[in-house]
Formats: sequence, C-alpha cells, structure tokens
Amino acid sequence: MIYAANFKTNHTRKTTKDYIKKLQEKIVTKKTEDSVYIFPPSTALDHFEGDFTVGTQNAYPAQNGAYTGEIGVEQLEEFAIKTILIGHSERREVLGESQEIVSAKFAYFKEQGFEIIYCIGEPLEVREQGDSAVMEYLLAQFEGIDTSYEDLIIAYEPIWAIGTGRSATVEEIASTHEALKKTVQKPLLYGGSAKPANIKEITSIRGVDGVLVGSASLDVESFSQMILS
Ligand code: PGA
Repeated sequence: MIYAANFKTNHTRKTTKDYIKKLQEKIVTKKTEDSVYIFPPSTALDHFEGDFTVGTQNAYPAQNGAYTGEIGVEQLEEFAIKTILIGHSERREVLGESQEIVSAKFAYFKEQGFEIIYCIGEPLEVREQGDSAVMEYLLAQFEGIDTSYEDLIIAYEPIWAIGTGRSATVEEIASTHEALKKTVQKPLLYGGSAKPANIKEITSIRGVDGVLVGSASLDVESFSQMILS
C-alpha cells in the first residue's frame, strides 16, 4: 500500500521537521512493501533521510525564471526532490489551473523524470448524475496526460469527499476504481476523508493501492496509525 500525506498549507518548517522525525521512529515496524510519501508546504522542503519519500505539492514547469511566487526545478534539486503532486482539485478549483495548464505541467515534469502523483476527481453535482457522468468527467481529466508514463501514480479524489469528513462509500470507491483501472493500469490511490477509522475498510477494497490523506495526515499519531493499520 501507498500512504501519502498532503499537508496543503499546514505545518511550518519546524513542525514538519519534528513530524518527520517522529514518523520515522513510528514507521520502523511498517511492512516493507508499504511506501510512505509526505508533501509538506514548499517552505518546509529540506533533505530528509528515512524510509519515506518527500515530494512537492506543486512547482512551476521551469528550471527557474521570472515566475513570481513559484518554485521551479532548481529549488527542488537543492533538496533532491523528484516527486510532485499534479492536478489536485484545490489547484484546479482554487488556483484556477485548467486542464491545459495541468497537462503542460505533467509533460514538463515527466520530461524531467519526476515521479508524478496525478490527481483527478469529480464535484458533487457530477456524482449525483450517476456513474457514467462521473467516468466521463474523470476521463476528461486525462486529456493531454501520458497515462503510460512509468513513474505515474493516480489519485482518485472525489471533491465532495475532500476535507468534509464524508468519505466516498465502499461501493463508490470500488466501482470507480474498477472503471478507472480499465483505462489506466497504474497504482491508484483513493483520497477524500481517509482517516484511522476508515483506513482498513478503504485499503481492503479491490483496486485501491493506497491513500492520499489531507486532514488526518496532519497529526503524526493519526497518520502513522493509518500506515500501521
Ligand atoms: P482530506 O484531503 O483527507 O482532508 O479529505 C485529501 C486530499 O485533498 O488530498
């Protein structure tokens, strides 16, 4: 299983450092086949050693240059960061990243050999229209994306389940993952209110290869409990 923590705009440089130290102590007993990813805010990126991968939540598709407020490959190379989240619904919805921007970012970081966790997910009004509307919406988020890229992990995160405390049901996750796996044969994470109370149920679903966790990853006890569950 893959356990990925997305801190979003939470934690500082100091608290991230303390978190990672504690996490490393806690996960010494994790199964060797399980892998752990942490996506801290960019101010907290650093060299971290341990049985986990640190990635960036975002970056601009350039080595460096005049892109006020962004970081590029040069800033990531300083800490040997080679993993990136692309297409998260908050970047699409809050930061206004279109499919065109997302796919250009994907192409750039693929070219740079980054491991990419590519996020897709539908809003509630689409989910309410039923399974075929959901699939149509999700497949459109693969437009311009090379889904055969070898270093690719997909995260299915229904927008209405993110940060709401209401996870998708087992049936919804199972049927969506099954349908997605027909199109994209890559590790497939579920994201959206995954937490210690539902982790076993979620990771037991066929077609779920791991979880991308926001809120419940912020506390190291909670996230490590999920990893060790
Ligand atoms: P959540 O966020 O776990 O707080 O629902 C998941 C995500 O956005 O990756």
